[in-house]
Amino acid sequence: MEFKDIIKPLDANKADDKLKEKHIPILKVIEKHGNSKKDYIRVVVGKNAKHPNTLEHHIEWIELYARTKTLNTVKIGSVKFAPGTEPDAVFRLVNLGKYREFFALAYCNVHGLWQNCIEIRKELRLTAGCRREKCLQEGFGV
Ligand code: FE2
Repeated sequence: MEFKDIIKPLDANKADDKLKEKHIPILKVIEKHGNSKKDYIRVVVGKNAKHPNTLEHHIEWIELYARTKTLNTVKIGSVKFAPGTEPDAVFRLVNLGKYREFFALAYCNVHGLWQNCIEIRKELRLTAGCRREKCLQEGFGV
């Protein structure tokens, strides 16, 4: 067994669509925000279909990882949520230009571990659900 075996798949054939919508972390790059012109990554769970938020059933945490342009994997940060807190996290980046991909994990205390990733291309175009071979090999992506 490998770590990737405990992460829920994005593949529609392997997971119920409603369950997926409520659990998959959605990543968004917020570039040069406001007057400060800082760069951020926002990770939200249940953006399109609200996840339950009770003591018995809630998103406990989100973790954000990135791969640099030199292919080093780094942990950007993690946020823990108490029941009643929206699973919505914003991470400020010191140097967005050094990263090429971001990976998020979200943990539901009932339904387990979910993932998503985005790739930042030269033009900063984003692709949800990274399907690159290297992502797949490391257990991220689809
Ligand atoms: Fe859940």
